[in-house]
Amino acid sequence: MNDWCQRLLTWYQTARREMPWRGHPDAYAVWVSEIMLQQTQVNTVRPYFERFLATFPDIPTLAVATDDALLKAWEGLGYYTRVRNLRKAAQQLVAEADAQLPRTAAALKQLPGIGAYTAAAIASICFGEAEPVVDGNVARVFARRNRLTEDFSKEPNRRKLADWLRPFIQVVDSPGDFNQAMMELGDYIFQKL
Ligand code: ADE
Repeated sequence: MNDWCQRLLTWYQTARREMPWRGHPDAYAVWVSEIMLQQTQVNTVRPYFERFLATFPDIPTLAVATDDALLKAWEGLGYYTRVRNLRKAAQQLVAEADAQLPRTAAALKQLPGIGAYTAAAIASICFGEAEPVVDGNVARVFARRNRLTEDFSKEPNRRKLADWLRPFIQVVDSPGDFNQAMMELGDYIFQKL
């Protein structure tokens, strides 16, 4: 394994924060957490995540949630499209996939509300797929390290960064840890700025 990957993973072993969805065996729980984390900070997400899982413990329950119940569970998080898409995706999975999430980033990306970033996060964390996540913070880490000046809010530049990262994530034991280490390092650096 490459030296910087080894150092990243070693750092993560000591610096990783406790998060209620980590070590959760259920891909559904990881999916919910990643949707909440799209526009919301980890510490804000914690109580919402616990409540959401208690109210809608699985995909079939979410698929039949009423508008009221859904909005109540999401109230305060904002960006309600996220939770509407969650339910829409749950309905699709119940109808077409025996209420099971697909196991690859490519298939996950076909579901409402799941973009490249969330698809890679779920596929790597839950199913061990070696697909790198590139969010704003990950881009920031690499822009710094490699003195890059591209605008990483642009999708083609993010894809280029993902292509660059893929050979590295392909040789680590745990792609989910690699991706979460990258995200946490991004958060860490972001908070220091
Ligand atoms: N940000 C979004 N998803 C995350 C995760 N799984 N771990 C750490 N930070 C994240």
